[in-house]
Amino acid sequence: MRSISKEKNLNSKKILLRLDLNVPLEDGNITDTTRIDKILPTLNFLIKQKAKIIILSHVGRPRGKIVKELSLRPIYEDLRKKLNTTVKLITKNINEIKNKDFFKKFDEDILILENIRFYKEEEKNDPKFAKHLASLGDIYVNDAFSCSHRAHASIHQISKYLPSFSGLQLDLEVNALNKITSKITKPITCIIGGSKISTKIDIIKNLIPKFDNLIIVGGMANNFIEYFGNNIGKSIKEKNCTHIVEEIISLSKKRGCKIIYPDDVLVSKDLNGFSKNKDLNQILNDEMILDIGPKTINKIIDVIDSTKTILWNGPAGYFENPNFANGSIKIAKKIIENNKLDKIFSVVGGGDTVSLLNSLNVVGNFNFVSTAGGAFLEYLEGKDLPGITALN
Ligand code: 3PG
Repeated sequence: MRSISKEKNLNSKKILLRLDLNVPLEDGNITDTTRIDKILPTLNFLIKQKAKIIILSHVGRPRGKIVKELSLRPIYEDLRKKLNTTVKLITKNINEIKNKDFFKKFDEDILILENIRFYKEEEKNDPKFAKHLASLGDIYVNDAFSCSHRAHASIHQISKYLPSFSGLQLDLEVNALNKITSKITKPITCIIGGSKISTKIDIIKNLIPKFDNLIIVGGMANNFIEYFGNNIGKSIKEKNCTHIVEEIISLSKKRGCKIIYPDDVLVSKDLNGFSKNKDLNQILNDEMILDIGPKTINKIIDVIDSTKTILWNGPAGYFENPNFANGSIKIAKKIIENNKLDKIFSVVGGGDTVSLLNSLNVVGNFNFVSTAGGAFLEYLEGKDLPGITALN
């Protein structure tokens, strides 16, 4: 994979830059600009190199049709305010644009093409469409790790027709993920939560052979608590998962990975209630588990202290109610403390975990926080991502 950050002669080069500007929109307003803010260093790097930038991105899933609500206009407005250069949104049909139109007819430094998923050829990975896109620039750069699990024209096919490079953000993400999948400093621990164990089973199976500890928290821990003979009352649990729990236990024994699940929990009769600490054999039929208890927190803290690399995906409890946020907060604080002392390399991912860290305003205190949903998970499952394979 060649990184654009190493290239010197970009002066006046037309760069087709694939970004993931798929930000949440509500009535035409952006509700979270994280993905835009994250790519500013890449844009500023290219601006400094005097490159001409053509941004390709999607927002939402318009499925090959023009959907007014999914225009990139609000994103363009936001970018324009944040960049110290001229930016223009091109709404003309891409198929009718020619290379010579850019930066002559449209006399700006940065051009943003309208939502690439307005064209049905994009998701079909259509070679003719990709070839036409490629004809608009001199160089292709993928700085959209979070889209790289999609074999789409502007992510995969396009790289066949142009010299192709990785962008600064994609480099950071791949380097961080390599540190938890291939270039690992051991001992390594994974804290995994979430409500559905079946959606994480492939990740768990892929990680167990490499990891020393697997800490299971959140809703999926309830399947383990019940499996070991405890009543879990009306706690959420995924049905018909005994075979998955057995598979995880047996694989972890075989591969020497220690499984840790809660010893004690915080319960309540409803989601908005107060918390009560209980040992696993004390849970009543009308109670639900909503967080890990103090004994479990101490155990997890000891594991974090003995670990050099950590991956965290999924909060420990129902943190939306502050009475059940303690487990996740204590985990975050401990990782941050060890991070500051340079004792640990930490990678965090997953929408809920990132929201939790955002609400605590501590995102900057981890080595890497991934905002990529599907791509992050598929990478951890050990799958090849078409967008990354294309760059290799
Ligand atoms: C994401 O939000 O994960 C990326 O933008 C990919 O979006 P998609 O799941 O619609 O392909």
